[in-house]
Amino acid sequence: MTYAAMYARWQKNPEAFWMEAAETIAWDRAPTKALSDKDDGLYEWFADGMTNTCYNAVDRHVEAGRGAQVAIIYDSPVTHTKREITYGELRNRVATLAGALRAKGVEKGDRVIIYMPMIPEALEAMLACARIGAVHSVVFGGFAANELAVRIDDAKPKAILAASAGIEPGRTVHYKPLLDAAVELATHKPDFCVIFQREQQVAQLVDGRDVSWNDFQQGVQPVACVPVEGNHPAYILYTSGTTGQPKGVIRHTGGHLVALNWTMRHIYNVKPGDVFWAASDVGWVVGHSYICYGPLIHGNTTVVFEGKPVGTPDAGTFWRVISDHKVKAFFTAPTALRAVKREDPEGDLAKTYDISGLQAVYLAGERADPDTIEWAQKHLNVPVIDHWWQTETGWAIAANPFGVEELPIKPGSPAVPMPGYQVDILDDAGHPVAAGTLGAIAIKLPLPPGTLPNLWNATARFKDSYLNTFPGYYETGDAGIKDEDGYLYIMARTDDVINVAGHRLSTGAMEEVLAGHADVAECAVIGVSDALRGQIPVGFLCLNAGCNRDHSDIVAEVVERVRDKIGPVAAFKTACVVDRLPKTRSGKILRGTMVSIADGATWNMPATIDDPTSLDQITSALKGLGYAK
Ligand code: COA
Ligand code: AMP
Repeated sequence: MTYAAMYARWQKNPEAFWMEAAETIAWDRAPTKALSDKDDGLYEWFADGMTNTCYNAVDRHVEAGRGAQVAIIYDSPVTHTKREITYGELRNRVATLAGALRAKGVEKGDRVIIYMPMIPEALEAMLACARIGAVHSVVFGGFAANELAVRIDDAKPKAILAASAGIEPGRTVHYKPLLDAAVELATHKPDFCVIFQREQQVAQLVDGRDVSWNDFQQGVQPVACVPVEGNHPAYILYTSGTTGQPKGVIRHTGGHLVALNWTMRHIYNVKPGDVFWAASDVGWVVGHSYICYGPLIHGNTTVVFEGKPVGTPDAGTFWRVISDHKVKAFFTAPTALRAVKREDPEGDLAKTYDISGLQAVYLAGERADPDTIEWAQKHLNVPVIDHWWQTETGWAIAANPFGVEELPIKPGSPAVPMPGYQVDILDDAGHPVAAGTLGAIAIKLPLPPGTLPNLWNATARFKDSYLNTFPGYYETGDAGIKDEDGYLYIMARTDDVINVAGHRLSTGAMEEVLAGHADVAECAVIGVSDALRGQIPVGFLCLNAGCNRDHSDIVAEVVERVRDKIGPVAAFKTACVVDRLPKTRSGKILRGTMVSIADGATWNMPATIDDPTSLDQITSALKGLGYAK
């Protein structure tokens, strides 16, 4: 089948398309229909089916005679460890962990927060929740206690599963003090916490609240999978929005299973048994969809990699893992390849490993620059496929459907919309624009299975963030163009979200932290182009009248404050003091113009600017920081 034929088949009869895809999933009760329209822009998929995610990801493969196949390969250059877990072992481990959760009172619908580094136990924790219908919310380890506390208060978990520590090159991340501080800060208190003690750092347990991973499971009975409704939340994953309050993206069980399984074959072109590796983190959506669920639902072997693209120990690590474990499909972020390319520009390290089993490389998380794609294609000798998606969608909106037809690769474009997505480029009034014209990227409702049905406890925010701007559409928050061949180009965000090293961050959240400093009267944070990380945040501070403290002290304090309140992942290292911020006459800060100046792009004096001279000071401050060249 061609891509065009597949897309047309979906367009002609979406209900039949997705009902057929649903046949690849094991249901306790098959759904009678795919889509339910809940009115008012809300939709659900496979709502009347009954199934279980863990059963589909683990047990069914064991029952089909594949218990001896490796499910998870753990490869950790930072701890010099390699370990394999078969599907049979995984079933037993997850059934016992789920039994222990049940024994402590966790039931279907209860929330469980998971705060763990890249170790197999993180996946086991996710699957154990799914087994009993508990709703997990994984929090990325690079976030600070305050961010964890915000998520605890929103999700109100009955339990938190955490590790004692994570290992970053050159330092140990002490998860336990972060967890303790977060529980202290949060209004909601979990009933109990389970701590996976790592030998690199054994944490002190809090009496009466904490239990160690092993003690927790002593003598408990393994439990079977609990069937849940197709519209039962499989998980909540928080992602950055325009404010400091993150958005709790909900994923429903039925659509998640159907969509991810579909992508494994049609986009990633792997067969059950093949080794699939996404070098991301379980704290991000890529980790949910393609380290944990997608590969396991499809019966692949997934790789849990605890390391970095460079420095663990060198820029050949990726190629070593691909060679050692015979990886067939590899998924990473453009930043990671840029980091490798910077250290090994001629790709010499790739030549020292046998990576002939590799079929394709997939990139997402941020814009993939053509240079990086061309460099990777040249040195790895396989197609390098950019695809575009979001935490909200959970799987690719646009991709090159490699398992169906390899379309020509146009570097700079994540190719074409996948079935389920009618992608339109709209002008401000919501009218589709001509090919080649820049506009807001919107997706015609309903979104396909596997995408967010709503935000956790925030329906009004859901509608406001995604549905209200363009009636009948989901607003992606990205701007871009579609060319004559229907290829999409994703150019920029239309909101205050920036993308730092493939990590989605809110400049609004950083501004809230800066504004909390006693000497700061007003501030702005913008995302400036960066050769390695894609973008990095830069802060501008206006100080309170009469403040005559040393500016460098204040800058150091706000840098520390962002690290402390949001976390090291924000990579907020640069700020400067200015007398005033450039604003429109109605008081809106001209962040877009500031970004253009910083990036050395051409820009026009905004007609609505209040005081044109305010931009002079911004320009010289940016020059002082090494930008605006
Ligand atoms: N737990 C705790 N801290 C973490 C962390 C984690 N899981 N991940 C990152 N951090 C910390 C880092 O240690 C660093 O701290 P530092 O300021 O003390 O050095 C900070 O967050 C910023 O991290 P990062 O931006 O990742 O910088 P880096 O120098 O550690 O690594 C790259 C640079 C390019 C190698 C790295 O950013 C990378 O691999 N990027 C790709 C990311 C990716 O795959 N994203 C996928 C999303 S789909
Ligand atoms: P996240 O929710 O963290 O996955 O971030 C989603 C955002 O990252 C998107 O809205 C885009 O802004 C950006 N993004 C993800 N993939 C791509 C891509 N392939 N090309 C350009 N931008 C991307």
